[in-house]
Amino acid sequence: MTPNAKMEGKVALVTGGGGAIGGASARLLASEGAKILVADERGEMAKKVAQEIREAGGNAESIAVDVADASQCKSATDAAVTAFGELHVLVNVAAAVTPDAPVDELPLEEWDRAFAVNLTGPFLMSKFAVPEIRKAGGGAIVNMASQLGTIGVPNRSAYCTTKAALIHFTTILAAEVADDNIRVNSVSPGVIETPRTRRRFDTAEEFHESRGKLHMLGRVGQPEEIANAVLFLSAEDSSFVTATNLLVDGGYIYLKRQPGENGKV
Ligand SMILES: NC(=O)c1ccc[n+]([C@@H]2O[C@H](COP(=O)([O-])OP(=O)(O)OC[C@H]3O[C@@H](n4cnc5c(N)ncnc54)[C@H](O)[C@@H]3O)[C@@H](O)[C@H]2O)c1
Repeated sequence: MTPNAKMEGKVALVTGGGGAIGGASARLLASEGAKILVADERGEMAKKVAQEIREAGGNAESIAVDVADASQCKSATDAAVTAFGELHVLVNVAAAVTPDAPVDELPLEEWDRAFAVNLTGPFLMSKFAVPEIRKAGGGAIVNMASQLGTIGVPNRSAYCTTKAALIHFTTILAAEVADDNIRVNSVSPGVIETPRTRRRFDTAEEFHESRGKLHMLGRVGQPEEIANAVLFLSAEDSSFVTATNLLVDGGYIYLKRQPGENGKV
């Protein structure tokens, strides 16, 4: 744990915690003293991240959960309280991978699954976590949105629409729970170097060359740069921040670009 740890005595549940950004967020919160329940559909990946946290001297457990399933979301919040006694922070990172396709070709099942995981997931997790966070005297919820929740790109209607809705949901939940001392914010990353984004390109060079120039800063981001924002919004450093959408996108959405330049984001 770092000296003057920002999350000492706090318990955090991170969905999608077996993935790149969720894993980096779980590790950083743990290094700042939080006890972590790492939740992911890929239970083995969640277990691996929890193990890494323990090996680094932190406190973590894991659970396999599909955030589209209400009873599994309830089990996950119950598991956090059973393992660590209370719950202060929920970080909703899990998101489905949806195939690129124009609206007239996108299968309804893919559209539905994107909504079930990316939007209903944070709704269900919040539904069950809010009473626990309230009981603990307050805390924070951080929703992982996307720069594509603000500017959409062709062939990604389901993903972009779920992220736009998640940003809106965040503001509404923030208003509902403000009196309970619970702050609710979203983070909108730009293109971050993770398996999810790399899979669209054959080589690392092609990925960096093609995606880096979509950002004012001329490069893609790293999962740890998003984890820093998650920590900020989870900790007392952001005590006067609620209902906001924090862009951590290297200037992506305000960069002027030519029509068609967004292509495969
Ligand atoms: N990588 C980027 O460039 C980028 C940009 C903007 C926003 N984001 C958002 O950041 C988040 C993390 O992205 P990442 O790149 O780390 O992806 P990732 O694929 O590494 O992580 C996502 C994790 O979510 C898990 N997951 C998927 N469906 C689930 C379900 N139904 N229930 C529980 N867990 C489930 C996956 O197993 C995976 O571990 C996502 O919400 C994504 O939309 C990513």
